[in-house]
Amino acid sequence: MRRHLAYGFLIVGVLAAGLGYLMYTRAEYLLAPLASVEGQRIDELLRLQFFLIALIFSLVVGLTLYAVFAFRRRPGEEGEGVYIHGWMPLEVGWTIVPLAIVLWLSALGARDFYWMRRPDHDMVVQVEAFRFGWTFTYPEYGIQSGELVLPVGKRVRFDITSRDVIHSFWVVEFRIKEDAVPGLVTHAYITPSRTGEFKVRCAEICGGGHAVMRAPVRVVTEEEFQAWVMENQAPSSPEAKGYQLVKQYCTACHSLDGSQLVGPTFQGIFGREVQLQDGSFITVDEAYIRESIRNPQARIVAGYPPSMPAYTPDQLSDEDVDAIIAFLKAFSEGTFQPSP
Ligand code: CUA
Repeated sequence: MRRHLAYGFLIVGVLAAGLGYLMYTRAEYLLAPLASVEGQRIDELLRLQFFLIALIFSLVVGLTLYAVFAFRRRPGEEGEGVYIHGWMPLEVGWTIVPLAIVLWLSALGARDFYWMRRPDHDMVVQVEAFRFGWTFTYPEYGIQSGELVLPVGKRVRFDITSRDVIHSFWVVEFRIKEDAVPGLVTHAYITPSRTGEFKVRCAEICGGGHAVMRAPVRVVTEEEFQAWVMENQAPSSPEAKGYQLVKQYCTACHSLDGSQLVGPTFQGIFGREVQLQDGSFITVDEAYIRESIRNPQARIVAGYPPSMPAYTPDQLSDEDVDAIIAFLKAFSEGTFQPSP
């Protein structure tokens, strides 16, 4: 018995040392790139978990492999093995040790959770989710944007809410995911740790456009951020304003470059003749665009799902709709070139 235990645990020890070392030192191969200061703590916890997983895996698989080999049925052996009922020290051990590990992990998790969510911050971004996109409002600068632009090294508080159903604000490189709930404002805090381009993704199934409910994230230097603020504070023309609104509300489902998304592309949309679901044809004009925003289910283009929600004047004012029409017209006629 002692010999078996010694051999068994020798195998477990070798496996655990190898796998545990790999999992602890090479955890980044299992994780998405990291782009926030707070995320370092999350990654440390994950690293520790990977290490513990390697230990448990080694214990179970190491002993199983040894048992399969050492206690195999040999020629001439008959009947069943001995039934062993209960072994107090082992049972107490496998209750107390995991309990201690789990309590220790929850203490570490609680420590980092409260550290991440401490209320100090350098700026606020209001995040509003809607089917199927995101609006980012910078109250200090009077900017609304469909793109999340953040200066590197500044701690941001996100005030998150939803206009319709439950969504979830998720930027994997920042290691945050927070529900966006209608009627509630939830918070998340991060400090971007490097410049780069990332994506907000929706992590709560919310309807036909869930999979395309993304928004670009750009982490830039402080100077680039100030330049972006200057540029976005007051759109110069209705077309430019319409373009901002379209990027904010429409481009998750309607492309500008002719590619097929959930809805028809906006490339060359104005003045185009399209076939509707009932087989009739219509020319896309101001009236049809207006109706398609206010009451999208009224006349759906053949071949597309009826998944677009209606936008009320509270969400997009008549002036906003005029700006969108002005943009779509100028864009289709080639007199307005959208900048990326
Ligand atoms: Cu919004 Cu899924």
